[in-house]
Amino acid sequence: MSISPSAQERKKVTTLSLARKKAQGQPITMLTAYDYATALAIDRAEIDSILVGDSLGMVVLGYETTLPVTMKDMIHHCQAVARGARFALLVGDMPFMSYQASVDEAVRNAGRFLQEGGMDAVKLEGGRERLPAIEAIISAGIPVQGHLGLTPQSVHLLGGFRAQGKTATAARKLIEDALALQGAGCFSIVLETIPARLARFLSERLEIPTIGIGAGVGCDGQVLVTHDLLGLFDRFTPRFVKKYADLHAEMAQAFAAYKAEVEASIFPAEEHGIEMPEEEWEEFLEELK
Ligand code: KIV
Repeated sequence: MSISPSAQERKKVTTLSLARKKAQGQPITMLTAYDYATALAIDRAEIDSILVGDSLGMVVLGYETTLPVTMKDMIHHCQAVARGARFALLVGDMPFMSYQASVDEAVRNAGRFLQEGGMDAVKLEGGRERLPAIEAIISAGIPVQGHLGLTPQSVHLLGGFRAQGKTATAARKLIEDALALQGAGCFSIVLETIPARLARFLSERLEIPTIGIGAGVGCDGQVLVTHDLLGLFDRFTPRFVKKYADLHAEMAQAFAAYKAEVEASIFPAEEHGIEMPEEEWEEFLEELK
């Protein structure tokens, strides 16, 4: 594959690049990816960061929640993404029960994302209750992105995939959690499905960048689940998603066209086939006699 001149000049995005973007008031872009081809396309679009989200459980593996996703699933998909993306900051999402049971396990599992998965950083959900794990992971030299608001791994505790931070008490707790994550050394925090004015307030008070999803334009950056943005996942689309394509419909059309052409013997046409030199064919027939 040839590398374009602009690709040669491009620099790898780091946690410091994100901090610089916040300082300069430049919005940060992040998207999820779970496979090589998507990671390559996102990287070519010069998106700052790729999250290998545990959302893969829902949009790729077909689970109802992210809870069944394992470390094995995550490492497998991280490796594919790392093979496709050279420039974006790669963040691996720590799955349910990979960091909650003990600090030791949290550090070892976080390390696997870098050593085996080819990631640059990890993300984990939760506030002050996660500080021991976050501090230990960061002490091991691994950058951590926090995740507050709607934290899908706590779906049952939250009573469903519901917006968070809508009361004064909940908003105060969120701010205290965000300040604690910043104090522990997180390089950024994802804010999911919280009121836009609360997200803006938080983003203005924090020194580290906030990345919003369903949290309004006042965040320092935005992340979307790529399958939602592409219209690939049509089981359920959150209100905050903007569909930039309708690939599910396009796929359905392409599959129907393929079926019709195969059934009508239109595909494969001559140009899709491989020819054998005439003399070889003659010799082959001759030898059969
Ligand atoms: O798993 C994921 O894709 C995420 C994003 C929604 C932030 O955590």
